[in-house]
Amino acid sequence: MGAAPLVERNLIFVTGKGGVGKTTVAAGLAQMLADQGRTVLGCEIDAKGDLSAAFEVPPSEFVPQRVADGLSLMAMDTEASLREYLKLHLRIPIVGRIGPVAKAFDFLATAAPGVKEILTIGKVCWEVRERHYDTVVVDAPATGHIVSQLSAPQVINDLVKVGLIRSQTDWMSQILGDPDQTGLVIVTTPEEMPVSETLELVAAVEEKTDVDIATIVVNRLLPERFSPRDEAVFDKIGSKKGRAILDDELGGGALPLLEAARLATVLRRSRTQHLDTLRSGLPAGLPLILVPELFSRTDGLRATRQVAVHLGEELL
Ligand SMILES: Nc1ncnc2c1ncn2[C@@H]1O[C@H](COP(=O)(O)OP(=O)(O)OP(=O)(O)O)[C@@H](O)[C@H]1O
Ligand SMILES: [Mg+2]
Repeated sequence: MGAAPLVERNLIFVTGKGGVGKTTVAAGLAQMLADQGRTVLGCEIDAKGDLSAAFEVPPSEFVPQRVADGLSLMAMDTEASLREYLKLHLRIPIVGRIGPVAKAFDFLATAAPGVKEILTIGKVCWEVRERHYDTVVVDAPATGHIVSQLSAPQVINDLVKVGLIRSQTDWMSQILGDPDQTGLVIVTTPEEMPVSETLELVAAVEEKTDVDIATIVVNRLLPERFSPRDEAVFDKIGSKKGRAILDDELGGGALPLLEAARLATVLRRSRTQHLDTLRSGLPAGLPLILVPELFSRTDGLRATRQVAVHLGEELL
């Protein structure tokens, strides 16, 4: 398990099954860290990353834009990353999309596995190495893709034993594999598929990468609305006799209300079961933090701030 608390790390990847709340949690985390006085870069990796919407600012660009106190956002663009790399390291100024380089890039990116991944990982690791920000929070791709991204430097290291490329990937592997600097956050919901994918992902990350899994975030937890005693009361009201009396009294409409209450209870119960499955399947000592279902607006800055508060309560 990681040495440093999550909030002190420099590079945090947020991943999880599609739609579970990766972007919401990444945004909340970035906000919470910025609130703590850290300078934060939020990085969207693919077109689906929509951190900018979570902060209600215009779409992110490759060049980080400051969007709030201590908080900047950028969107990954592997071609721009290659251009920046060539300019920085080989001192080749490349303006625009120049023919041969673009062609070579297109060729490499399609033909050689790992090229896009290394340009992505390389860019975020570089921001960390240069200490441009205290923390880089990456709204990372979903479960299927994250392992190949995190293991890209390792894969290339295994292919290339010496030389320029090797010296370029060694330092990335070092940052990624250091639990004081880098942590993976896996977001899930207490539902069957996300839980089983999470357990599979934990195993794959441990087997195929050196990246420390810092914490699991269980998102969209339902509050306990009704106690077992309340439930007994609902059962009574829900009986034929109870319903008849109520309908009589209210002129109908009792049934949908009772069903809603029952649904809330059943849903919560099933989510609790999935949460238990998750708990018992995870390696001992892996922290698990909970974020409740938001019932008001679930997107935009307000939701981001609410999630930031919940994360702060668990992480600070
Ligand atoms: N705690 C929550 N309570 C209520 N709604 C939530 C919560 N977390 C996320 N949502 C909603 O769930 C939807 C998916 O969230 P989000 O976009 O963060 O997921 P994602 O994992 O990033 O999805 P994708 O895989 O498409 O990138 C959004 O509409 C979001 O507002
Ligand atoms: Mg997303």
